Amino acid sequence: MEFRNSCKATPAKLTVVGAGPGDPELITIKAIKALNNANVVLYDALVNDALLQYAPHAEKIFVGKRKGCYAYQQDQINELIVSRAHSYGHVVRLKGGDPFVFGRGAEEMEYAASKGLEVAMVPGISSGLSVPGYQNIPVTKRGASESFWMITGTTKDHKLSEDVALAAKSNATVAILMGMSKLSQIVGLFKAEGKGETPVAIIQNGTRENEKIGVGTIDSIVSIVDEEGLANPAIIIIGEVVRHREKMIQIIRDKQLELSQKI
Ligand SMILES: C[S@@+](CC[C@H](N)C(=O)[O-])C[C@H]1O[C@@H](n2cnc3c(N)ncnc32)[C@H](O)[C@@H]1O
Repeated sequence: MEFRNSCKATPAKLTVVGAGPGDPELITIKAIKALNNANVVLYDALVNDALLQYAPHAEKIFVGKRKGCYAYQQDQINELIVSRAHSYGHVVRLKGGDPFVFGRGAEEMEYAASKGLEVAMVPGISSGLSVPGYQNIPVTKRGASESFWMITGTTKDHKLSEDVALAAKSNATVAILMGMSKLSQIVGLFKAEGKGETPVAIIQNGTRENEKIGVGTIDSIVSIVDEEGLANPAIIIIGEVVRHREKMIQIIRDKQLELSQKI
């Protein structure tokens, strides 16, 4: 591997950068500039490897989780950021989606700043918004939803966030990340609120070539997940806004039929 980090050219710096949801075109220009300027890139499993081409001169270190195993523990990542920055200069910490949405970007920045590094942050397109969006599911829509919750399905104690029970009582759209292992529990909370008919979509590997989607209701989604073999990484999106996707499909079909009848 060739990289240009053998002498420290810039002050010790950490830039926490959002890589977007998976499609390599869904990254910001500012993020590409940061990568181009990096001496070292530490990246996670949800980052599309194609993005590493934008850091042609940097050392690239995979620090994510693959096949259930972490390459590095969080404290080791923190240390790696600091030691690499002191040795080589600019470290880019490239994270899936937006680094400040369930991404531990804030923690890493805090640690780096406490060790005297210059710190910066480049926001990314969070999967919680863009993955449903790519499938024609808006998180808000006039008449259907006035707000949305983005909730983690797995807290640091490996439990379902208590916010899911609160969100189930609301009229908001609910997007749950890291929730697949708790799907039955989530469904139970919505059923307890009499919401068995509420539409649900589950999108796996959103915006990527291997994207998969299952659409149903609170009552049917568990069996749909089994049938379709849906698994992590996936977003669970619950709310009336899910119907927009079906509506768009119908409008497009009707339009095509109308046009074909005119020919
Ligand atoms: C640790 S969180 C990181 C979220 C990220 N910071 C963001 O803003 O998108 C990881 C979870 O995000 C969701 N996720 C991220 N990318 C996804 C994608 N392309 N398709 C579906 N879910 C995704 C999954 O729920 C996954 O388990």
